[in-house]
Amino acid sequence: MTDLSSRYLGLTLRAPVVASASPMTKDDRALRALDDAGVGAVVLPSLFEEQLELEELAIDNMLQTGADAFAEAQTFFPELDDYNTGPDRYLTHLEQTKDALSVPVIASLNGVSLGGWLRYAHLLEQAGADAIELNVYRVAAHPEVSGAAVEQETLELVAAVSGAVGVPVAVKLSPYFSSLANFGCLLEDVGANGLVLFNRFYQPDLDLERLEVAPRVALSTSEELRLPLRWIGVLHGHVDASLAATTGIHTGYDAAKLLLAGADVVMLASALLRNGPEHVGRVEATLLEWMATHEYESVGQLRGSVSQRAVPDPSAYLRANYLQTLASYSSPFLA
Ligand SMILES: Cc1cc2nc3c(=O)[nH]c(=O)nc-3n(C[C@H](O)[C@H](O)[C@H](O)COP(=O)(O)O)c2cc1C
Repeated sequence: MTDLSSRYLGLTLRAPVVASASPMTKDDRALRALDDAGVGAVVLPSLFEEQLELEELAIDNMLQTGADAFAEAQTFFPELDDYNTGPDRYLTHLEQTKDALSVPVIASLNGVSLGGWLRYAHLLEQAGADAIELNVYRVAAHPEVSGAAVEQETLELVAAVSGAVGVPVAVKLSPYFSSLANFGCLLEDVGANGLVLFNRFYQPDLDLERLEVAPRVALSTSEELRLPLRWIGVLHGHVDASLAATTGIHTGYDAAKLLLAGADVVMLASALLRNGPEHVGRVEATLLEWMATHEYESVGQLRGSVSQRAVPDPSAYLRANYLQTLASYSSPFLA
């Protein structure tokens, strides 16, 4: 019998396939279907720093003025309220999801700066979260703020969240840090129990008629998994923290690649939004079949067996194959 179980953030999961934060993990019916389909754990959508600051502000205003400032303040972020319905209902949803599912439930906090909202990490723990994913979605675009300052601020945030709770904390990063292997180690030093690589940044588009910046969600494809593949492969063996791969994982073969590189779990969002919660079953069936064909008995045996440390040519994960890769490209328009 092939063993699909995996350890992630100190939790034992029945399978290494996790539902990543997305509208699918907000929906109660979809959450139960994910559980039925064999998912290893689920990550709820993020609770956003802006929502939590807004609530703090509203409470202050109400205390000072007695006015109904909250309803007024809420109109500044109506779209956020549409996404996850605000802090109180988030906690209720977390409690209900914990009751309804048989697998670990990971709550997600989105923030980039220290603030009063940090106490929510503790409330998430009290509401039953098995772990907290800190989604550090930040576009570092201030001309006066250096990369070192951005890293330092992130480290302080991670230290504060990890210090506030007893449950494990994973940090979901963007791929835009300059020296990721070093930064990954520093995050572990300040208390991160896991690294989630990488959040997928939505690049702006321009509407040529309205001459406006147009935000648009485009789902990923398997091609995009190479970015987390490299960094999971590089970090495996350098950190004790758990490694989760997200971005571009759509099939059991995609999952096998990331586990071979060193991931403890793979996280799926686009593939589930496109194919439904039952897709988890198909991904796991393909993974099992691939493992059986290649004589792997467990995820533990598979994990990291093609990481940078394990391969005969470690430079293949780095720059060494740059020239080779470019030279291998052929076009029918060129001689
Ligand atoms: C519509 C949508 C909403 C998402 N919401 C969140 C969120 O609230 N928090 C978060 O950390 N990631 C969020 N994500 C990112 C996903 O969890 C995932 O990391 C990313 O989409 C890359 O994985 P994929 O290639 O499987 O889609 C969202 C993704 C989509 C498509």
